[in-house]
Amino acid sequence: MSPTWGLASFLGNVFSCEGVEVVSALRQLRETLRSVLQLKPIELHPTRRRLARSASVADMRLIAKRRLPRGVFDYIDGGAEDERTLRANSDAFAKVTFRPRVLRGVTDIDVSGRVLGESTAFPFIMAPTGFTRIADPQGELAVARAAERAGLPYTLSTLGTRSIEEVRTAAPDARLWFQVYAWRDRALVADMVRRAALCNYEALMLTVDTAVFGRRERDLRRGFSLPPKIGPGTFIDGALHPEWTLSFLRSEPIRFANVVGADVGDGSSPVDLAAYINSQFDPGLSWSDVEWLRSLWAGPIIVKGIQTVDDAVIAAEMGVEAIALSNHGGRQLDDAPAIFDLIAPVADAVGDRIEIISDGGIRRGSDIVKAMAAGATACMGGRAYLYALGAAGEAGVDQLLATWSEDIRRTLALLGVSSMSELDRDVLGPPRTNS
Ligand code: GLV
Repeated sequence: MSPTWGLASFLGNVFSCEGVEVVSALRQLRETLRSVLQLKPIELHPTRRRLARSASVADMRLIAKRRLPRGVFDYIDGGAEDERTLRANSDAFAKVTFRPRVLRGVTDIDVSGRVLGESTAFPFIMAPTGFTRIADPQGELAVARAAERAGLPYTLSTLGTRSIEEVRTAAPDARLWFQVYAWRDRALVADMVRRAALCNYEALMLTVDTAVFGRRERDLRRGFSLPPKIGPGTFIDGALHPEWTLSFLRSEPIRFANVVGADVGDGSSPVDLAAYINSQFDPGLSWSDVEWLRSLWAGPIIVKGIQTVDDAVIAAEMGVEAIALSNHGGRQLDDAPAIFDLIAPVADAVGDRIEIISDGGIRRGSDIVKAMAAGATACMGGRAYLYALGAAGEAGVDQLLATWSEDIRRTLALLGVSSMSELDRDVLGPPRTNS
């Protein structure tokens, strides 16, 4: 049969008696297609398009990996030496199983937390991260604003790329904490503490896991400096990531904004971070410096970088308000213990005397639930929000925090628990052995 004859016969049938059935079958087909093919409007806004494709921290990490120059991504993503502790932090959460209880009438779920005596939208603190502006030009300002909107505390790093004062102006109602490193020049520390008090920061966080700088081999391989140099070595990397490179070149220079004008170098010319930190930070830091800090600061003090029960006990005896169990996101001593594994023994030893913040490996709201069930007062994290910032700027951080809040609510409902304060080790099952 020729094609013309075939078409003529098909049309003949359509208009014949039998054709009535064909027409109605075609109509039916069109209706069915309409109901299954709901064409989504195409999202033209690039940030919203990226966010729509991103359902998890893992997704945001992959988007950040595509958008950021490799040196910048590796600085954020990497850890010390073989990165075993970096991986162990999140693997430890993956090994935890739940013991869900059912039929418990979980209609009203309260995800709020409490830290340093004040409530938080959920029990999470934005960790201090150095050089946040390498992920996005707004840097610390974007993260502090997102924390303020979400009702969470934000900790500004001494090595921040926005100053104590700028961050307070950007987030006037936020709970702001300030992180302190022990510079050899203690007068510099004292001055930053004074500025933080003037700007109404709520707490000081002393980082104690950085006597010397960890060996970050990804940065060594790439010759990574801060701020990143656009030199022959990084030129191609920069050219392959034009959006980042243009915004980096267009925005004001990245500096260690809290030490501009001090005699320690403010990063206005690129520095090798390890050399900088080893020359500026004091490896002689000891528990007596905690007492010294207490003499300068009337508010709460958190000691960040506790990795043993023994040191948690000393911190409790010194009377600091909180400790952060932290191995610096696996960036300092490789083979330091995974943070989740420390929570229960530390809580058993000092949980009645001191608040315990669990810092490391959080990738989902359910991880926050696991840490709280094990005995943490709250959780903290930095890398996840840096992925979000690198993937989609401030809106990325908003989306991350909204997702985690929802994750926590869903996890509690599925566990048969109505509030964070009801969580205890009963909700945890035996560790998964095959992950
Ligand atoms: C800074 O604190 C870093 O870990 O790079």
